[in-house]
Amino acid sequence: MDLSTRYLGLTLTCPLVASASPLALDVGNIRKMEDFGAGAVVLPSIFQEDIENEIDEMERLGNEGNSEALSYFPAGLTENVGPQNYLDLIRRARAAVDIPVIASLNGTTPAGWIDYARQIEQAGAHALELNVYYLPTDLVSSGAEVESRYVEILTEVKKAVSLPVAMKLSPYFSSPGHMIQTLDTAGADGVVLFNRFYQPDIDLEELTLLRDLKLSTRGEIRLPLLWIAALSGKLKGSIAASSGVQTAAEVIKYLFVGADVVMTTSALMRHGVEYLKVLKDGLVADLTAREAGSVAEIRGGLSRSAVSDIAAYDRVNYIRILRGGLHAAQ
Ligand SMILES: Cc1cc2nc3c(=O)[nH]c(=O)nc-3n(C[C@H](O)[C@H](O)[C@H](O)COP(=O)(O)O)c2cc1C
Repeated sequence: MDLSTRYLGLTLTCPLVASASPLALDVGNIRKMEDFGAGAVVLPSIFQEDIENEIDEMERLGNEGNSEALSYFPAGLTENVGPQNYLDLIRRARAAVDIPVIASLNGTTPAGWIDYARQIEQAGAHALELNVYYLPTDLVSSGAEVESRYVEILTEVKKAVSLPVAMKLSPYFSSPGHMIQTLDTAGADGVVLFNRFYQPDIDLEELTLLRDLKLSTRGEIRLPLLWIAALSGKLKGSIAASSGVQTAAEVIKYLFVGADVVMTTSALMRHGVEYLKVLKDGLVADLTAREAGSVAEIRGGLSRSAVSDIAAYDRVNYIRILRGGLHAAQ
């Protein structure tokens, strides 16, 4: 069975990718991910705040004229500052596995921290995933301002590095498809659809905010499925599906609508990294049952431009469902 796929200009032996999570903080886990079938691994994010804190700390030490403390940092770090342990993780991951290692940078403003992308490249990452986790809860920024922020950050990062850059996005744009096409035109080598925003809940007993992060459920594939289906074949860059994979069925659905790779975190957190083998075996079994010899044979077969019943993706179907013409599925 040929499971190979192309993602961000890289050739992967399998479309299953371990998405960014603390699981990959452990190089032993990264090795297991490769052994159990991952085609690539995304490291957990390094945050703009981590990088800026280190810059601030260095400036503080510099202002105090504390040359002893400054000598603790390697020479030249004032230009190219960044948390060294993340770079070390990249180097150790690269040394441990043959699959592509994708670093993840998470920030919200185009500023000095972007220089750190260069260090990520120098440390040996095969690609960079950029997660602009920006919540305009200040109620000040317009939609257009938020969108241009994404494009600006991408442009700055692309200027800083020559490795491929993927944008991990949330679905919360007025016109997600157009936004994604804009980023594609601006040079994104791929998009990851979608990021899950952290959303607080309320503890009614204590009247406090709950700050936990829930693992995903399989119903969450539907939103990415819709947009991947619409974008398949319309972008220069690659498409990664992310959210809701619990079994091989979700992986296959994502491939059918046109994903180049399918990412998973919650399933690995629930069942262990070994679960990648279950997903991979399930994928092979499904392709075999369909008498397909490769992932490429099914990819995009149910994308928006491939299906004859295009209405199923559109408003007309919504009206039909609301009028009770179709059964509401559980
Ligand atoms: C505990 C945990 C930590 C995560 N850390 C990151 C992170 O550092 N950077 C990031 O871009 N996404 C992070 N994610 C999001 C995942 O990469 C993924 O996009 C999301 O969980 C949806 O995929 P899933 O349904 O397969 O879990 C994290 C998710 C979880 C559950």
